[in-house]
Amino acid sequence: MKLISGFITIALLSTCSGPREGAGSSSSPRVNIPFTPDISINEVMVAQIDHAAHFIWNAANPANAASAIDWQEVEHHAIQLIASRSAISMGGTGVNDAMWIAQTSWREYVNMLNNASLLALESARQQDVAQLSRAGDLLVESCELCHRQYKPAIPTEGFTHPH
Ligand code: HEC
Repeated sequence: MKLISGFITIALLSTCSGPREGAGSSSSPRVNIPFTPDISINEVMVAQIDHAAHFIWNAANPANAASAIDWQEVEHHAIQLIASRSAISMGGTGVNDAMWIAQTSWREYVNMLNNASLLALESARQQDVAQLSRAGDLLVESCELCHRQYKPAIPTEGFTHPH
């Protein structure tokens, strides 16, 4: 028994040893901290995802010369999209949020959005215009597929993007 509790202590210590190399990889141990965001998926869509995605589409627009792309801003907006993943995976105050996040296809669309955003981030860091354009296309696809299946005709919280 003593041996077992000693082992558990060691196991706990080793998971709590803080940041280490490769901490961003999916194989690193995580502590799940349960909470519900105090905003709705509708609000996150309008105030974060839509804003950030439009910046990336504008940057990837072939009408803009490569030299005009502010790569650091592209990088920051890609990070905003990647950061939104947790909010739209957990759901918040929206009336339908809890129902949406429980669906397998919802999580697949969230992953599509995330993968496109990761590609945009990599493109920004490598200053690769062609790859940024591919990331932009994948991004549109994720919005469209998810909206087709889940977005109500009238946003549940009444939030739409004004510009
Ligand atoms: C995982 C599913 C999913 C993905 C991916 C997704 N959305 Fe949404 N989006 C929704 C849902 C559901 C709503 C409606 C929320 C509500 O009414 O409560 C919504 C609402 C919105 C709204 C507000 C309603 C409106 O018509 O103005 C905007 C803007 C929006 N999304 C933009 C985007 C953009 C841009 C992308 C892609 C970069 C995107 N969304 C990706 C599910 C998704």
